Amino acid sequence: MKVSLKACDVVIFGGGGDLAMRKLLPALYHLDMDGLLAKDTRIIGASRRDMSAKDYQEKVREALNEFVPTSVGDEKTWPRFKDRLSYVSVDAQQESDFARFNEHEVGSDDRDVVFYLATSPDLFGSICSSLANHGLNQERMRVVLEKPLGRDLMSSRAINDEVTQNFGEKQIFRIDHYLGKETVQNLLAIRFGNTLFEPLWDSAHIDNVQITVSETVGVEGRWGYYDKAGALRDMVQNHLVQLLCLVAMEPPGRNDADSVRDEKIKVLKALRPIEGANAYTKTVRGQYAKGMINGKEVKGYFDEEGSNPESRTETFVALRADIDNWRWAGVPFYLRTGKRLGQRYSEIVIQYKSIPHSIFNDESNRQLQRNQLIIRLQPEEKISLTVMNKVPGAGEGMNLQPVDLNLSLSEAFNNKRSPEAYERLLLDVMRNDATLFMRYDEVEAAWKWVDGIMGAWSQTSERPKEYASGSWGPAASMALPIKDGRNWHDY
Ligand code: BG6
Repeated sequence: MKVSLKACDVVIFGGGGDLAMRKLLPALYHLDMDGLLAKDTRIIGASRRDMSAKDYQEKVREALNEFVPTSVGDEKTWPRFKDRLSYVSVDAQQESDFARFNEHEVGSDDRDVVFYLATSPDLFGSICSSLANHGLNQERMRVVLEKPLGRDLMSSRAINDEVTQNFGEKQIFRIDHYLGKETVQNLLAIRFGNTLFEPLWDSAHIDNVQITVSETVGVEGRWGYYDKAGALRDMVQNHLVQLLCLVAMEPPGRNDADSVRDEKIKVLKALRPIEGANAYTKTVRGQYAKGMINGKEVKGYFDEEGSNPESRTETFVALRADIDNWRWAGVPFYLRTGKRLGQRYSEIVIQYKSIPHSIFNDESNRQLQRNQLIIRLQPEEKISLTVMNKVPGAGEGMNLQPVDLNLSLSEAFNNKRSPEAYERLLLDVMRNDATLFMRYDEVEAAWKWVDGIMGAWSQTSERPKEYASGSWGPAASMALPIKDGRNWHDY
């Protein structure tokens, strides 16, 4: 289904920055290529730097050459896209500069306007108040807030209080790019578009759930930001917790913003706090040391540019979460994420319970494997279901082995290009659909839970455990499910 859109203005604060060049402009370009931008939609880069529209177009062209290789020589989309691009030089802390948006006719002709704040969150409040003071907070105008939305509950509240002085909740789009990933949306399709899975989606049938987001990259020149955040704030508070919510929530009555978010918030509120001594048995923190990844030697955390050897920031975290409600009582949710691990991949594994009684009693069948539903987000997008099968052959008797039923999305849909998360999310903001964005009560509940863990960690003098780059994290993280008689699913 093609989405018909009315023309709007997309203003990107931090328009010359890394996120804009690597993700936002390539996403907008792809939308234009696919015919999903209205004819008169404009894209306006905004930042402190003095630059002409022509210079900005040139900068964007270079970024597209690098990040959208198929755009090189694309004479169909580029001329159209280039004409959409303009630039306004604005110091986010200089309110008078915002008059330039009016000179630029942003929001004229009753168009919708999307202000994408790809800046430091310290600036969110002042940008929103300057926009309001220039009449740029009308109902048809929306702000998109990039993470991090604070570093704990208090700071996130402060940001929210400032922004909501000038924009209503319905105008605020808090982005978590994991929710824009195709397979994440497919998780909703699997759960609520089939009769097959939902009746088995509970503690009577599921033994445990595992969510892994494993990265091979290190902090990549972001030490300043990352060292203040760490894996728990950077990845768990948002991406992993959001995935957990989509796995664990009750079926919403409708697929609209409030219905979905009302169900997610119930999960967040049912998360058992991990506090005090619990933090030692239920969480593992790690920090990467040097090692080898894909045959190349890579640096340790303390050898990164700008590093501080006293840092106790975790680059890896594994934890056991429990959801205290009827559906999930007794089902552990194991979450882990880390930088500089052996392989880049993200997946959700639903591990079903063992069969109650085996009729296949010979030696080779003693260890019948349990069914597993694996939802792989990256590198490839696929869904697989492991089922036990008879090994073919008359002389084999009833010898059973696990076999994967695989659904590769690219094969199933004839290699149709799978859009990047930001494409879907930008399109949703333009059409004013907040279903895949976070409401403030969700952000707040996630921070409350994470604050408990941070608080417990801060009480200890123990350092995060070192792990070699290229490994799967500290040994203690392997032991986390083993203590409960379970194992991590191997990639
Ligand atoms: C970002 C984090 O939100 O997500 C980064 O700040 C992380 O540290 C990135 O590398 C991972 O995103 P993806 O889509 O590459 O898995």
